[in-house]
Amino acid sequence: MSSRIGIITGGGDCPGLNAVIRAVVKAAAQRDWECVGILGGFDGLLEPARFRHLDYHEMDALLFVGGTVLGTANQGRFAAKTGDGQVNVIPKAILDEARESFHRLGLKALVVVGGDGSLTIAQQLFDHGIPLVGVPKTIDNDLEATDLTFGFDSAMAAATDALDRLRTTAESHRRVMVLELMGRHAGWIATSAGIAGGGDVVLIPEIPFTYDVVCQKIMERSHIGKHFTLVVVAEGAREEGHGETTTGKSAADRETRLGGIGTVVAEEIQRRTGKETRVCVLGHLQRGGAPTSFDRLICTRFGVCAVQLIADGKFGRMVALKGFNTVDVPIPEAIGHLRTVPPAGDLVKTARSLGISFGNA
Ligand code: F6P
Repeated sequence: MSSRIGIITGGGDCPGLNAVIRAVVKAAAQRDWECVGILGGFDGLLEPARFRHLDYHEMDALLFVGGTVLGTANQGRFAAKTGDGQVNVIPKAILDEARESFHRLGLKALVVVGGDGSLTIAQQLFDHGIPLVGVPKTIDNDLEATDLTFGFDSAMAAATDALDRLRTTAESHRRVMVLELMGRHAGWIATSAGIAGGGDVVLIPEIPFTYDVVCQKIMERSHIGKHFTLVVVAEGAREEGHGETTTGKSAADRETRLGGIGTVVAEEIQRRTGKETRVCVLGHLQRGGAPTSFDRLICTRFGVCAVQLIADGKFGRMVALKGFNTVDVPIPEAIGHLRTVPPAGDLVKTARSLGISFGNA
C-alpha cells in the first residue's frame, strides 16, 4: 500500500492555506507518509503533471505565511462552477487524465483544500475513482455542512481593522465612508465586520436595500449629532429590484467578477443627502497576509483531521467544524447550495438590536 498522499489547493487563495499544508505534512510524517503538493490547482494533475515533494523540515514557517506555496487557480480546465448552483460536468477525458496522473504519482489519496467550486471538482474526481478528502476553505464562509470555513476569521479581521481606520477619518471630516468588502453571494464578512467594527449600515446580498432607508439612517444619525456614518457593503449587495454590480466582462468558464457597488452606493448617498461621501474597496487585502490565530488553529485541526480520515479510509468526506469540534461530513452535503446569512437569523437580529440598518424597511 502506498504511503504517499497528495495535496491540492484550489480556487481563490485565502489566509491559512499554508497552515493546512503544514499540518497535513506534519501529521502525515508522524505516520511515515510522504506528501506531494500538486502545483497550480487541479490543472497541476494534467500532463505534464506539476508537483513538488513537501519536506517535513520546510514546514515550520508556513504556519503564518499567507497565500499557498502550491499555487492555486480559480479558472482552468476543471471549471466545475460558473455561478451559484450551476454545476458543469468535467469532461471524462480530463477526469481520466487526472486519475492516470494520480496513479502515476503513486498516491494513495488526495487532500483537496477548497471552497464550493473546488469541492465540486473534488466530488467529480472522487466519483471517478480518486480517493480523496476535503478541507473547507473560503473567506466568504458560505459552505454548507460546516459552521465555519478557514480564512473567514482573517478576512473579518482585515475588514474590522479597515473600519476602525475609516471611523476616525470619517468622524474628523464628518463624512459618510462606504467600505466595499468581498462576499460574492453571502454577507458573512460584511455583517460580522459590520458588528465588530461598529458599522451603521450593512448592505448584503441576502437583503436587497433601498436608498430611502439607507439615507434615512444617515440623516437620523445627523439629527442626533452623529455627523459621520460607516456604510459596509458586500460586493454582491444589490438595490431592491436590481441585479449585482459587476466589473467588466467575465470569461465563459469563470464566475462573474463582482465589484463597484461601493462606488455606486457612495455616489447615490452623496447625491441624496448632500453629505460628502468617500468609498474604500478593501478587495484582496482580505485574502492576503498572515492568518489570525483562530484561523491557524482551525487550519491545523482541519489538516490533522484530513490525515486521520485518510488513515481511516473515510474518502469522499470533508472535514468540518461543528460547534468547537472537528467532524467529517460527506462532500455532497457541503456543495451545491451556498450557506448564506439568514435574514431573520441571530447575526442579523444582533446587528439590528444595535441599531444597524440593513437598508430595508
Ligand atoms: O470566493 C472568494 C472571493 O474572494 C469572492 O468573495 C470574490 O468575489 C472572489 O473570490 C474574487 O476572486 P478573484 O481572485 O478572481 O478576484
